[in-house]
Order: sequence, then structure tokens, then C-alpha cells
Amino acid sequence: MRDFTFYAPTEIMFGSHAEERAGSAIQKYGGTRVLVLYGGKSAAKSGLLARVEKSLLDAGLSVKLLGGVQPNPTLSFARQGIQTAREMGADFVLAIGGGSVIDTAKAVAIGAANPRTDIWDYWLGKESVTRALPVGCVLTLSAAGSETSDSAVLTDDSRKDKRGLNTPFNRPRFALMNPELTFTLSPKQIACGVTDILMHTLDRYFTPMQGNELTDALAEALMRTVIHYGPMAVQNPADYQAQSELMWAGSLSHNNLTGLGAEKEFAIHQLGHELSGRFGVAHGESLSAMWKAWALYVYKEDPARFARYACNVWRLETMTDIDTAAREGIETTVRFFSSLGMPVSLPQLMGRPLTFEELHELADRCSRGGTRTLSKLKPLAKEDILRIYAAANQ
Ligand code: NZQ
Ligand code: ZN
Repeated sequence: MRDFTFYAPTEIMFGSHAEERAGSAIQKYGGTRVLVLYGGKSAAKSGLLARVEKSLLDAGLSVKLLGGVQPNPTLSFARQGIQTAREMGADFVLAIGGGSVIDTAKAVAIGAANPRTDIWDYWLGKESVTRALPVGCVLTLSAAGSETSDSAVLTDDSRKDKRGLNTPFNRPRFALMNPELTFTLSPKQIACGVTDILMHTLDRYFTPMQGNELTDALAEALMRTVIHYGPMAVQNPADYQAQSELMWAGSLSHNNLTGLGAEKEFAIHQLGHELSGRFGVAHGESLSAMWKAWALYVYKEDPARFARYACNVWRLETMTDIDTAAREGIETTVRFFSSLGMPVSLPQLMGRPLTFEELHELADRCSRGGTRTLSKLKPLAKEDILRIYAAANQ
């Protein structure tokens, strides 16, 4: 096997009423003054916010609520959160929501613990994180996997620059995961989540660093599970079995269990981040729109790997040759996204083809002005990235 380090310290409390354990969980991790972050209306409307607040107050904690996190969360809102955390002397940050709220909580936790450093310097890679306040979360959307990941993705809204920061300090102390909290999601939000969960494993699975067979088998089982239960949840958001399988898959897909020993790839995510940074589209949609163009551009580097994916994940076992199997696996994935109502090209995503100038701007941003390449499977320089965006624009 390949060597690896695996660090996934988040305590998971999974099942009905999990959110009611918020107060005791924060006490357990030493919190006393808690800043609670949430998004727009969903958590207040469902009564979840009130239930969690009660749990915190019953535990004798002092609490301040701060709502308003937007999807594709912004640096400017994170700065507001940091200010609030400092004013109240917060020693714990609790997120109630999906990836956007949890990522904002991670940013606030880093910013509040490092008052002398401009928060964005961490995202630009100019500074390394050495401390952060503890974060916990009540998950309401199975998608980003932020509840267990070491990542936090923010957009500098003044520059439309979307970036991720990976550090062990981003791992939440605990995640309270009650699948019933996802019953209020719209079919579109669920479909975006299904896409993101699949993509976290796809972006790890297609790597030149192979040889950890159990990891591959776990990845394939996870993807089969998501493909099986995803459409059921989209069809019936109150299907507990489907939503609980997705919720657990979302955490395992992004805590790195399905990528041990492999170098980080995440090319599709990087291509997608430019789209949501620039145009504000939902994260899951940005990924489904880029999958086909990326996969067709790189699969010849390792067609056997793509054929294995077709066979073990999609059970396409009757193909005569490797190339056909590889292409069929890619196309079947595209049909799956389409069946969920997800866009599978840039014109479908945007409602129009992008202009020549927009494609060049995206490639320039994604390659950081031509200074970085994406991926190890097939290194993608600025010109490659431009060709992939152009292919997705057909
Ligand atoms: O704001 P509210 O009213 O709560 O509505 C939200 C939001 O509009 C709604 N929602 C969430 N839970 C709900 C609900 N509506 C009804 N019922 C519920 N139970 O869903 C909308 C989208 O929420 P958001 O948090 O933006 O979605 P998601 O979890 O997909 O997170 C996306 C963000 O996470 C980043 C993405 O780039 C994007 O910014 N990612 C974070 C990662 C990480 N930290 O590890 C990894 C991912 O690859 C991803 O990049
Ligand atoms: Zn993602």
C-alpha cells in the first residue's frame, strides 16, 4: 500500500434528535460563550434554531446568534462574524447549516483566534494557521462534507475570488447529524448535494497514485450508494433511509477516507470554483457542468482506471474494449446528472454559451495567471484549462 496520514478527529453524533445534544457537546469541548452562525431562513423557519438555542441555554452557556450567511459564503460576512466573536469574547463557534455556514464558522474561528493577522492571508497562503477556536456543527444539508473536512471555502466578494484553505485546524470538534433535518430541502438542493458528494470521491479516485485496494473499494461502494439513494431522496425528500445514507456518504466522501495515499487532485473542483466565484452559481451545478469536458480530456492518461469505474460503480460489464468502457462510464455519469436535473454543460449552467473573453478570463483565474497547473493524472496548464472550459461550452 501507499503510505498515508489519516486524521479525522470529528466526533459524529448521528440520528434522530442529534441536534438536542448541542449544549452538552459544547460543554464537553470546553465552550462557555458560543457564537451561533446560521444562514438565511431555513433554520429559523423549521424551528431548528430555537431548539438548538434552548439546548445551549439549558446547558448554562452564554449564546449570541448571527444569521445571514449566503451560499458561496463571503469574506466580508466572515469578517463581520470575527468582529462579533471578538466583541462577545467567544470561545466556541457553532454552525447550523450546510457547507456555507460551516465554512464561515471555520473562518470566524481562525480570525477570532488570530486578531493580528488579516484572515484572507491564510486563504492566499501567505500565513499558516497555528490556532483556531473550536468549531462544532449541526448539519442540515448533505453535500460539502465540511462537517468532517479540513477545508473551508470562501469568496473574496470584492474580487470574485473563490478559494479553499486546508488545515487540520479546520476539522470540527463534533458534527450533529440528524437526517430528518434535510427533509425541508428542495429537490434541486438535494441534487446539488448528490453531485458534490459523488465528486468528492471522483476527484480523489482518478489519480495516478494507486495501490490502496481497500480505499478504492470503499470509494466504489460509496459512489454506488450515492447513485442508488440520491434519486430516491430527490424524488421524496422525506425518505429517511435515502437521506441518512446520503448524509453519512457526504461525511465519508470528504474526510479523506476515499483518497488515502493519493495526491490531491480536485481539478473538477478547481474548474468549478471559478464558475461559482465569478457567476455565483451553486457549487454542485458548477461541478456537473464541468465533469464531461474534464473526463473526456484526461481519460486517455489511464483508460483502464475509467473502465474500472464503469464496471465497479456503474456495473457496465459487457463492454468489449477498455476505451469503450471508459467512455461509456463517463457518458453514464453525464446521464445520471441529467436525470437529477443538473446542468452538464456551460450553456445549460448559464442559460447561454460563455463568450470567448469569459472563457479566457476563467482559464486565467483558474491557472492563477498561468502560474499553477491542476491535477497529477494529467497536469493541466492554462492552455489545457482553456480547452476544457471551451469543450464544456459546446
Ligand atoms: O441559508 P438557508 O436559508 O439555510 O438556505 C440554504 C442555502 O440557501 C439551504 N439549506 C440548507 N439546509 C437546508 C436548506 N434549505 C432547506 N432545508 C434545509 N435543511 O441550502 C442552500 C445552500 O446551502 P449551502 O450551505 O450553500 O450548500 P452546501 O452545503 O452545498 O455548501 C456549499 C458551499 O460549500 C463549499 C462550496 O464551495 C460552497 O461554497 N464547499 C466546502 C467544502 C469544505 N469545506 O470541505 C468542500 C466542498 O467541495 C465545497 O467546495
Ligand atoms: Zn465539493
